[in-house]
Amino acid sequence: MTDALHQDLLELAQEAARRAGELLRDGRPADLAVARTKSSPVDVVTEMDIAAEKLITGLISGRRPDDGFLGEEGARAPGTSGVRWVIDPLDGTVNYLYGLPTWAVSIAAEQDGESVVGVVAAPMRGETYHAVRGRGAWATGAWEGERPLACRPAPPLDQALVATGFNYVAEVRAHQAEVAGRLVPLLRDVRRSGSAAVDLCDVACGRLDAYYERGLNPWDHAAGDLIAREAGALTGGRPGDRPSRELTVAGTPGVFEPLQRLLEDFGAWHD
Ligand code: IPD
Ligand code: CA
Ligand code: CA
Ligand code: CA
Repeated sequence: MTDALHQDLLELAQEAARRAGELLRDGRPADLAVARTKSSPVDVVTEMDIAAEKLITGLISGRRPDDGFLGEEGARAPGTSGVRWVIDPLDGTVNYLYGLPTWAVSIAAEQDGESVVGVVAAPMRGETYHAVRGRGAWATGAWEGERPLACRPAPPLDQALVATGFNYVAEVRAHQAEVAGRLVPLLRDVRRSGSAAVDLCDVACGRLDAYYERGLNPWDHAAGDLIAREAGALTGGRPGDRPSRELTVAGTPGVFEPLQRLLEDFGAWHD
């Protein structure tokens, strides 16, 4: 029963992510502008973020009217079925605004508060990643075909390629830049792609050794975190915690732990 439910949720999430991805890819206006800002003047929303969320919630609630929703652009419903959808309709809005290709649609389904299905579609890469709890993580795509995902064997920390991101609030950013500055000389290098969901999937694909960020919301990491874990990565927040607004870390075992300790030493979640 649970397996059949999870399969149904997966297929629905895949359909919603594919259709929203097509809308975003094919419907991007040439004169795309900022519709409004949120936490700061650089925290922007476009009409396409809103249109993609509408498409996803409309499709899912048409098929499963009793499910709950938590969407970045305002979808909120408690639901009565025990299933809640956690949706980032466009992760990487600033990239999308500028025409940079790293952005994604991220959809997770939670059952009784735990992520059981995660789908991240990255249309400009021609790749979609998915995971079902206990059934592994997979990618489908033009470049490498359909394949199971596995994170990389761990290098020593000074050979690790680690991604991060920056919050939209200036004071948080200033501290994040300080922490990143202390990490750079201790690692192979640092990347900032502009999409937390893509970063988490890149850990799952073995294209990054680890990723960390402070200040994420549940819709940024709900799907990517499950995909990374099902690919064998360790994920968490502050030592002993789950991914949170204070800190989200994902990494191949062997890089995750020393990175988490360094982030603790550097006070990554303090002001
Ligand atoms: C943002 C991206 C970015 C991360 C920010 C997120 P959005 O999401 O994931 O990479 O650094 O913290 O807020 O606003 O583009 O959906
Ligand atoms: Ca946003
Ligand atoms: Ca996001
Ligand atoms: Ca978003």
